[in-house]
Amino acid sequence: MYLDLLLVGFGHVARRFVKLLDERASVLHDRHDVRCRIVGVTTARHGAAFDPNGLSTAVLLDRYASGSSIDGTDRDRAGRDYSWLLSEARHHTATACAEGRVVLIETTPLDVTNGGFPAIDHVREALLAGAHVITANKAPVAFGYRDLAARAAAAGRRFFFEGAVMDGIPIFNLVRETLPACEILRFRGVVNATTNFILTAMERGRTYHDALTEMQRAGIAEADASHDEDGWDAAAKTAALINVLMDGDATPLTVAREGIRAITPDRVHDARARGRRIRLVASAQREGGLLLGRVAPEELHPGDPLAQLDGLQNGLLLETDVLGTVGILQLDGGLTQTAYALLSDLITIAKQGTRDRNRGHSLAPSP
Ligand SMILES: NC(=O)c1ccc[n+]([C@@H]2O[C@H](COP(=O)([O-])OP(=O)(O)OC[C@H]3O[C@@H](n4cnc5c(N)ncnc54)[C@H](OP(=O)(O)O)[C@@H]3O)[C@@H](O)[C@H]2O)c1
Repeated sequence: MYLDLLLVGFGHVARRFVKLLDERASVLHDRHDVRCRIVGVTTARHGAAFDPNGLSTAVLLDRYASGSSIDGTDRDRAGRDYSWLLSEARHHTATACAEGRVVLIETTPLDVTNGGFPAIDHVREALLAGAHVITANKAPVAFGYRDLAARAAAAGRRFFFEGAVMDGIPIFNLVRETLPACEILRFRGVVNATTNFILTAMERGRTYHDALTEMQRAGIAEADASHDEDGWDAAAKTAALINVLMDGDATPLTVAREGIRAITPDRVHDARARGRRIRLVASAQREGGLLLGRVAPEELHPGDPLAQLDGLQNGLLLETDVLGTVGILQLDGGLTQTAYALLSDLITIAKQGTRDRNRGHSLAPSP
């Protein structure tokens, strides 16, 4: 199956994703019969480019790295924004859109101040144009999951977001594919790599500032690092997990939230001296018919699986009605893992498209 990709955002995650696409091209082709080409890219400050015959990954990466516009011209080509990208796609890849072979890869930054916009609009408009959507951005699923999932279903398109929580480790796919008859009653997790790295580094004698700077340099901290420090990123992930896994209606604003700025080295060392560790814990549970989400630093007992998580490691414990507690650990997190989540969602879309076509189903919207 041939897929045309539109990228909105060409930052750390998207750039690692396009390299991974090249690195795994033979696996995609030989194992899954998928071939991809990037036909359009738009950014905030690095211009935009579109070519229905495919853009060169190497050229895009070189231009971005050199600081010039990704289309090789000056940066201020007015009007070359997301709407321009979609209108080019509608015009030049109309057949691919109609056949369900266009996929939007949404990797703009999380913005908690705007109710999930503009990312929600990016998803809505792409679905309307006939594209599937994959995002690593938590905003659409944390603020607009129910609406976007309904729109995707009505359009006969997929809306996937595995990379939004715990990078490439399957959570949403795991629950969707393997726990179809279980209820998730509650969950607890360490879901933000930057804060876990900072807390671990402080246990080892490094300063908060030094550890945060390392995360920013590695492209792992959010573009606005206060999103990590103040617990917004974890709150967005908590809302996403509540909405998808527990059929809730949360937003990051409804999650009770406390970040790690007030955690001092003394507090970290005092907890260590008592055999405990401070971790930023995200959790949700049902109470009196309500679904309550919470993000806060907690002192964890050494027997708690979440207390074992060091550095960039993340973990999630799902308490289910049938299987008891299911734990998922991410021992190696980072950009490649997030890029991999986008890739794995892409393969799922291609496989479903192939399956639908073999069954003679069109991917057109249901009446
Ligand atoms: N980094 C990670 O390890 C990680 C892990 C999991 C999930 N995520 C999520 O993945 C997303 C991307 O992360 P990242 O680290 O790649 O962020 P990033 O490096 O800040 O890149 C964001 C990209 O989005 C572009 N952009 C911003 N607003 C835009 C708009 N309105 N229209 C078009 N493009 C726009 C930026 O353009 P310019 O390049 O011109 O600034 C940039 O290319 C975020 O939502 C983040 O929360 C990241």
